[in-house]
Amino acid sequence: MIKILTVVGARPQIIKAAALSRAIRDDFSDRIEEKILHTGQHYDAAMSKVFFDELKIPMPDHNLGVGSGKHGEQTAKMISGIEDLILSEHFDGVVLYGDTNSTLAGAVAAVKQHIPIFHIEAGLRSFNMAMPEEVNRIACDQMSSILFAPTQTAIENLRKEGFMDIDVRFKNGKHRQIFNSGDVMYDNSLYFAEFSGRTKILESNSLQANNYILATIHRDNNTDNPYRLESIFRALLHISDEYKIDIILPLHPRTSKLMPKNLSPELYDKIKHSSYIKLVEPVSFLEMIELEKNAKLVMTDSGGVQKEAFFFEKPCVILRPETEWVEILEHAAGLIVDADFDRIVDGYRDLSTKQVTFPPLFGDGKAAYFILEKIIDYLE
Ligand code: UD1
Ligand code: UDP
Repeated sequence: MIKILTVVGARPQIIKAAALSRAIRDDFSDRIEEKILHTGQHYDAAMSKVFFDELKIPMPDHNLGVGSGKHGEQTAKMISGIEDLILSEHFDGVVLYGDTNSTLAGAVAAVKQHIPIFHIEAGLRSFNMAMPEEVNRIACDQMSSILFAPTQTAIENLRKEGFMDIDVRFKNGKHRQIFNSGDVMYDNSLYFAEFSGRTKILESNSLQANNYILATIHRDNNTDNPYRLESIFRALLHISDEYKIDIILPLHPRTSKLMPKNLSPELYDKIKHSSYIKLVEPVSFLEMIELEKNAKLVMTDSGGVQKEAFFFEKPCVILRPETEWVEILEHAAGLIVDADFDRIVDGYRDLSTKQVTFPPLFGDGKAAYFILEKIIDYLE
């Protein structure tokens, strides 16, 4: 029996972990035992527990309860807690997702104890080192034994960085491996889309299918910069008034905490009292899928939400200066508008009237099975 440790901490990692946990439960339970460590990076029920319950992920075996903090402080506490666990209990490998501080901490703790790291969502790059996520993902890729890239673009990024030319060997004598596995979030979106209609999220917010915009904003360079945050919210208000269209905004706690501080009082007041803009608490994953499936268009700075918009064939206005998911741009299903008022308004106008195609670019919906087979091959 192979024993792996899955490290999660932030909302998108918990959701991603559902795909592997489900595959292990259904088809690999005789070969793989999974233990889950939650770093506690996200801790509000709506950012964490709701996903374990709704997506039937086994509750974490360990919770470090690290909470929020400065990057170094938060990451250091996580490294220390993960190290303590892997020194006290044997694991054959550690599964890490994405690019958060929890990912970086898991990588540093595991690599120093010579536990093989399996990095899911390897090879993604924004080429913007001002993003903490870019630093985390580059570091994690370097420390990993198997890199599971979700797209061919991610494979090409790794090739350009020399990953295919340099033969890296770990203490167990094994060489680094790199695969295009497809995207576990495509697995999840396909699987859970069937159940999302059971939620009441449209009715409870008086939303009509194909007649509202779904927006999310949480990226630090948007929330923490008053000029950018003001510009994004001014544009949302303008679009909703001009086109008489509802905008639902499930607010990340980072954003709800910073809006009163970083928006001008007049704009904040108008947003709160707008009859079109619906500010709501973070929603569950099934509710989010239901919102994505029925939206006219998506506006977001989230990595995961950009991709889910594509899965559900919705155009996406991307509130960032660049994206890791360049396939979306290449198929003209998304537009980069940054936090620029005019570009956001023009982007909405252009994308809401355009015919867009959404070819399958993110695998076959069975990425989790591919990943688990490769992990078994590597460890057996
Ligand atoms: C983190 C990730 C980011 C990811 C996002 C997913 C890093 C560096 N960033 O950003 O890549 O896109 O998660 O959502 O790892 N907060 C709460 N309750 C919670 C969690 C957070 O109130 O349960 C608030 C706190 O004020 C905290 C702030 O949100 O300081 C930011 O949380 P943090 O985990 O540091 O970063 P995110 O912005 O969530
Ligand atoms: N999500 C959710 N509820 C919300 C907002 C997002 O379930 O209120 C899901 C979303 O569907 C996606 C993931 O959370 O699967 C994306 O997380 P987030 O935007 O926080 O982080 P990112 O993907 O940018 O790292």
